[in-house]
Amino acid sequence: LKWQDPLTSSQLYFQKFPDERTPLWTNPCTDPRHHAILPPSINCTKKSLPDLLIIGPQKTGSTALASFLSLHPNTSQNTPVPGSFEEVQFFGGQNYLKGVEWYMSNFPSSSTVTFEKSATYFDNPSAPKQAASLVPHAKIVIILQNPAQRAYSWFQHILAHEDPVAITAGSLEVILDSNSTSSKKVRQRCISGGRYVHHLTKWLEHFSLQQMIFVDSDELKMKPPTVLNSLSKWLDLPEFPFETYIRYSPSKGFHCRLLDGKTKCLGESKGRKYPEMPENLRRKLDKIFSLDNSALYKFLRKNRLKIPTWLEESVRIRA
Ligand code: A3P
Repeated sequence: LKWQDPLTSSQLYFQKFPDERTPLWTNPCTDPRHHAILPPSINCTKKSLPDLLIIGPQKTGSTALASFLSLHPNTSQNTPVPGSFEEVQFFGGQNYLKGVEWYMSNFPSSSTVTFEKSATYFDNPSAPKQAASLVPHAKIVIILQNPAQRAYSWFQHILAHEDPVAITAGSLEVILDSNSTSSKKVRQRCISGGRYVHHLTKWLEHFSLQQMIFVDSDELKMKPPTVLNSLSKWLDLPEFPFETYIRYSPSKGFHCRLLDGKTKCLGESKGRKYPEMPENLRRKLDKIFSLDNSALYKFLRKNRLKIPTWLEESVRIRA
């Protein structure tokens, strides 16, 4: 046994246990050993961790859902985080290394339901374990959008962000038909988030199905108050007249919040205007997702969960 200074001993430790380099945060307020040494900035008498995570996937309407849910007076959302589209993006991302204190600082006010929406969580392989370690009792919202439509929307998103590969190809169809490494990367980015059951399985290793609710993206688009009413019922929130605060905006082509008599729609990156998906492309994407969609259908049926219309249709067409 020999004495080493703290820095050297920590280096030796992580050489021996490289898997422990990334910490796994737990709630310091529920651990008596941590409780005794907490900095004053962590106030355990107040709720500073979310009860609800809206985990995406991206391009399914997650921003609209979060903004509508925040209308309810008994909810509070994280303060917007600059640089990551206002999302906290803690679990499975770079922000995780900023630590629990940083995460908690994003929830300065708490309510019956304190929540955050980070659409990057759903398909991140580290997010389920890290989330379950810190907020094991959190409820989880997952939005199901036809993965073909989601892939197309994602392609429009990177096109709008002037991704050079997307711009050169000009269409998602060209990307799907190309064998170049750069096209394969774009293809992967468009497709992988839509393999729902694959990612869901990872979440189910750490959270029970009873902690999860599935929202149909099409229903959210068409009838947001209906979706919000059943979500808030599931969350045991008092009734709230969402229909009074949500209005369809013909110019936006989507529902928006109604505040002080004026519609307040999401920014131009949400609900973009672009041509409808060509039939040829839809067929190709449907084929790519056919096994994933069948698996999702079986999963929802087995668990007696509502099957979105787009999924019923896609499985019927295949049969
Ligand atoms: P598009 O811009 O491709 O139409 P997310 O917030 O998860 O990234 O999802 C963005 C998508 O939300 C948009 O994709 C849009 O189709 C959908 N959406 C659903 N309801 C919306 C609303 N009320 N306002 C804007 N976009 C909405």
